[in-house]
Amino acid sequence: MRNYDFPSLGFGVGLRPPHYSRIVDGVDAAGGRAPVDWFEVISENFMVDGGRPLQVLEAVRRDFPIVMHGVSLSIGSVDPLDRHYLSRLKQLASRFDPAWISDHLCWTGIDRRNLHDLMPIPYTEEALDHVVTRIREVQEILGRRIAIENISSYMTYRASAIPEWEFLSAIAGQADCGILLDLNNIYVTAYNQGFDPVRYIDSLPVERVRQFHLAGYSDHDGYLLDTHDHQISAPVWNLYDHAVRRFGRISTLIEWDDRIPEFELLAAVADKARLRAESALG
Ligand SMILES: [Fe+2]
Repeated sequence: MRNYDFPSLGFGVGLRPPHYSRIVDGVDAAGGRAPVDWFEVISENFMVDGGRPLQVLEAVRRDFPIVMHGVSLSIGSVDPLDRHYLSRLKQLASRFDPAWISDHLCWTGIDRRNLHDLMPIPYTEEALDHVVTRIREVQEILGRRIAIENISSYMTYRASAIPEWEFLSAIAGQADCGILLDLNNIYVTAYNQGFDPVRYIDSLPVERVRQFHLAGYSDHDGYLLDTHDHQISAPVWNLYDHAVRRFGRISTLIEWDDRIPEFELLAAVADKARLRAESALG
């Protein structure tokens, strides 16, 4: 297996269609290159045979590192791994050479039906073995290590016997993969389920956490919803400071998927993350 060490890419944003022209053509007052270090792309959006998305990605890739972030791996499902999906993912990766590939610690369907949602896994020893085996298989097929992201969740299973932070740590160690730590997801899940988000962060193995996600949630009077349509909240920024002090200067990505603002605002948030990280590290 090719030994990817998840290089530190700096501060990036998600590549989203409303910003294609701005990023590719430099359509702004200054006409310059987009003021971010890297882009994360949703892998499935580029699993197409041609057209504008692929042209845009080619242009972006000429100037920037990219990471491929998927939503369909369904690593926790009991369906067999989707070999067709994995082969398209591998093809895309060989064409665009991403710094790494990531997906979520979740399941997204059963009997080949896609729920189009990221569903939590029961945290049991049986599920742990199942997911570890599948990640190893995926890494074998792709020929590289992947990173697995913690999701937001709004429910727990009666069967769960292991705290999420221990489950995620065990997965990463046993499958030999990276962790993509979404600080907004930790905060949303911690708030909804009543655990301490700092304890979560402090329990994870430092060497496995290779990327951060930052995003904004919406407050629904009693619970938080992971909507990616708001500014990052003050408590999530505070968690980010804490995480940077624990895990160091690793790649940080701003996710914004709904009510997407102008590119310049998004880039300014990435810049804010840069300043927070610098001052957290002193
Ligand atoms: Fe995320």
